[in-house]
This record gives sequence, structure tokens and C-alpha cells, in this order.
Amino acid sequence: MTDLAQLEADLSAQIAAAADAAALDAVRVAALGKSGSVSELLKTLGALSPDERRERGPLVNGLRDRIGAALATRKTALEAAELDARLAAERVDLSLPAPPERRGRVHPTMQTMDEMIAIFAEMGFSLAEGPDIEDDFHNFTALNFPPKHPAREMHDTFWLPEDENGERKVLRTHTSPVQVRVMQTLNRQLPAWIANGQKPPIRIMVPGRTYRSDSDATHTPMFHQMEGLVIGEDIHMGHLKWTMETFVSRFFETPGVEVRFRPHHFPFTEPSAEMDVRCDRSGGEIRVGQGDDWLEVVGAGMVHPNVLRNCGLDPDKWQGFAFGFGIDRLGALKYGMPDLRDMFAGDRRWIEHYGFSAFQAPNAATALS
Ligand code: DAH
Repeated sequence: MTDLAQLEADLSAQIAAAADAAALDAVRVAALGKSGSVSELLKTLGALSPDERRERGPLVNGLRDRIGAALATRKTALEAAELDARLAAERVDLSLPAPPERRGRVHPTMQTMDEMIAIFAEMGFSLAEGPDIEDDFHNFTALNFPPKHPAREMHDTFWLPEDENGERKVLRTHTSPVQVRVMQTLNRQLPAWIANGQKPPIRIMVPGRTYRSDSDATHTPMFHQMEGLVIGEDIHMGHLKWTMETFVSRFFETPGVEVRFRPHHFPFTEPSAEMDVRCDRSGGEIRVGQGDDWLEVVGAGMVHPNVLRNCGLDPDKWQGFAFGFGIDRLGALKYGMPDLRDMFAGDRRWIEHYGFSAFQAPNAATALS
């Protein structure tokens, strides 16, 4: 056997014996690498005479090509075998339990809001909304807060910096400005010749965020209110009282809830009242219908004639009542949270404890039961 034939036989045997990609690469380097056996042979061609080179050149080059091809073929075979082995070894066991996943909870404020909406919807109220950033007109002036009147200070307002028109907007201090927006929109939406003078009745509920610079166990700088507005031709204080009492007894799902109305002052209602719910706040928990504490949950009254006028309604024809509930407070009362500030502290343990499952979403049917 010639030296070339011997070398080819040896290399072919080594290629066939290489068990994995690393072993095969070692054979490649030993043959075709910089100082590999085949490469060394190629280098000797330069020193030969032209005649010798003509004879030996094709032999050595042919050897290099065949070894290269054999390496490539073996490489493909090894890779295929490796893939087969991995496919055989690796398994996805679909019967294994899924990794545990944290389940989100519905915030008590949102749960309470949904419960309130379900109850008021059942009473025929429809939803309305307005912006969190309000102008002075909607938040105060249209609601009969006289200019420079101390009542404007009553709300610990968050004022925004003056804008380019010299106007200072506010983070709305209550949801009452939406009353104004709804009454005005009603006026705008109906051209006089269609409306034929008949603009209301109105029966809306307005859930939303409100803001005041105030913080203690029963106040948070951001909180939620549910405004209500009912306007008709023959609406009186009796309707207001019935609505409040009916709502509270449905909301607390217990006949034992005791409420009291106290005379109060709001610029936008006359007469005005606040309603409290009897509760017990001793012992770090809050319980409705017992104890000697009272928690104010709603401000209400008959819409002031000036407000109706400011919104384009004739007070000699239209009257109505309005109310503004503290949603967080009602939720805290119902679900026993002693400190409102915890509701917005963002503590995960708190929400896991007090939060609701999404499957407990209230609807009109459960609100009535
Ligand atoms: N806007 C009042 C507040 O935030 C609550 C309120 C009182 C709303 C009387 C009303 C109302 O609609 O008639 O303190």
C-alpha cells in the first residue's frame, strides 16, 4: 500500500470511529489543520520537480478532498444522531402540576363601587363620568360656591399651577362637578325645537376619584365618591330619604343598620344634610349597627336653585336631590377596615387579605337578594 493509501485508510478509520463532534473535530485538525498530516503533504508539493508534481499533486489534492468530504458526511450523521438522542431523552410531562401562580384580588373599593352601581342601577340610575382635573367653574362656581368664599377652602383643594391662560385647574375635590356637566350636556344635546322645553328627568350615579389634602384614619388624599343626581318636576326630600335608606339597607344586607340625618351646609344644596351610620370602632375593627360611634357616609340635599340656574334649568319647573357617598368609607364599614389609609398603601398582604375574588363580582341579582 502506498503511503497515501495508508494515510487515507487510517484517517477514514478515525473518522468512522469518532463518537461525537469533539472527537471528529480532533481528527479534522490532525489531518487538515495547519500542521495536519494532509496539510504537511500538500506543503511538500512545492519542492517537487514539475513532472513529479504533475503526478503527485492530483493524488494529494484528491486525498484532501475525499477526507474533507468524509468529515462533512460524518459531521452531519453525528449531528442527526445527537438530535435523535436528545429527542429521545427530553420529555415534557403534561401531567405535572402547573407552577403556582399568584392570583390578583379585586380591591375592596372597586368591589364596593360595583356593589353600589348594581344597587343604584336597579333603582333606575344610569352611569355618568367626568374628568379628575377640573376647572374652577365646574368644581366650585357653578355649584354655587361664591368667589373668594371660605367654603372654597373647606375642601383642602389641590390646586394645579397656573396654565398659560392664567387659569388654575384643580384635582376635583368631589364628584359634584359632574352634576353640572350632565345638566349642561343635556341642555346642549337637545336643540330647543326637539327638546320642546322638556330636558330632564335625570337620574344618574357618578363614581370616581376625588382629591383633598387630608390624611388620617378616616381621610386619604385620594379617595372615591359616588355622586347621585335626580331631577324631575316633583322630586322632594322624601325621595332623597327613601333612596338613602333603601340603598343603605340593601348595601349592608342587614336590617340592623341604623342611620341618622344631621342638618348641614353645602353651597350646592338647600336644605342640606349629612347621613351617618352607627358603628363600633373599638378593638381595632369596625362593626356596623353596634356601638356608639357614627361614621358620616354621605352628604346630600335638594339641589340649590342657583345650581339649576347655572346649568340652564328653570328652578320653578325642575327640582331634585343630590348626594355624594364616600365609597372607600362605605367599603371600610361593610368589610371591617379600621384605617382608610391602609386601602391605598399598596401592601400586598393587605390586598390578599381584604381583596375579593373576581368571581365575586356583584350584579343586580345579588344586590337585591
Ligand atoms: N360634594 C360633597 C362633598 O364632597 C358631598 C355632597 C353633598 C354631594 C351634598 C352632593 C350633595 O351631591 O347634594 O363633601
